[in-house]
Amino acid sequence: MIENSRIALTIGTALDRFIKNHQEEFKYATGELSQILRDIALSGKVVNREINRAGLINLSGNMGSLNMAGDNQQKLDVLANIRFTRALTKGGEVCAIVSEEEDDIIEVNKDANYVIAIDPLDGSSNIDVNVSIGTIFSVYRRVSEVGTPVTEEDVLQPGINQVAAGYVLYGSSTMLVYTTGSGVNGFTYDPTLGEYFLSHQNMVIPEDGKIYSVNEGSYNSFSPPVKAFVDDCRDKNISGRYIGSLVADFHRNLLKGGIYGYPATAKSPNGKLRLMYECNALAFVIEQAGGKASTGEQRIMEINPADIHQKTPIFIGSKKMVERVEAFHKEMAKVAQD
Ligand code: AHG
Ligand code: MN
Ligand code: MN
Repeated sequence: MIENSRIALTIGTALDRFIKNHQEEFKYATGELSQILRDIALSGKVVNREINRAGLINLSGNMGSLNMAGDNQQKLDVLANIRFTRALTKGGEVCAIVSEEEDDIIEVNKDANYVIAIDPLDGSSNIDVNVSIGTIFSVYRRVSEVGTPVTEEDVLQPGINQVAAGYVLYGSSTMLVYTTGSGVNGFTYDPTLGEYFLSHQNMVIPEDGKIYSVNEGSYNSFSPPVKAFVDDCRDKNISGRYIGSLVADFHRNLLKGGIYGYPATAKSPNGKLRLMYECNALAFVIEQAGGKASTGEQRIMEINPADIHQKTPIFIGSKKMVERVEAFHKEMAKVAQD
């Protein structure tokens, strides 16, 4: 006979309940941010369904067009963009959206308080080969008065002004991980119930890690401090793990301890990743989980964006590993100066 005490009967707190229970932690607490999180979670379910069926309903492959960042748009990039922007537009809580797939700021409801920056689908090149992909989002409060047209100032805010950020990971299971500035929590989607449940409460990244994630094919064009850091990882026998899907690489490193880096290369002198809808969101999450995010010389969340599609080099993950990258930069800048 099976003993009842040995069967895990709890299925965790449903996302909706969690959002409701924690709404008061947020200083504005009017329920608008909660609704935005629910809209993102719901769009994530729809995109998850479409990703799972992509190979069956001709959703794999290229659109034959380029987005603002100069990347090939995949059919699922375009579809995910429609799903998220439509849900966030209809909800009424959002005044402007910045998306990787849209050239300009999308002006939505001038009577709303929140600005969203979103990478609707990250890791596009992995869509057709069944590797994990993700959605990344940042939420800001506008700075101009509600009811007036949205300004550039509302949108071009540094990461330190984020009020919420997170990602959906479409992996071996689908997860929503987010922060509103009081720690990081992860929810796993149960497709049989159509609900996300709290599975990773108060996530904390190990202070030091045993994984580094860098595209070493570009090693020859890395700067001397970045080369020195990679060499140091090799010398220390730290494992190299690189999926090429930022969300998936980030999520693994968050759980296990490690660092993800996309430095400047000859091909991409400012790195490849976009500040407003990739780097800032994950920087907020990692800092809330006890880690760090840096260009090597500056804290990611303190960069003042000048353009919505701006790129930045990034090193993100376990505190001590990011500090080692920063130390190499400092040391070598000093040597160059002397
Ligand atoms: P996106 O699909 O949104 O354009 O982003 C892809 C990014 C990121 O997910 C990944 O870590 C990185 O590109 C991989 O770039 P490389 O192939 O140059 O290593
Ligand atoms: Mn991306
Ligand atoms: Mn993308």
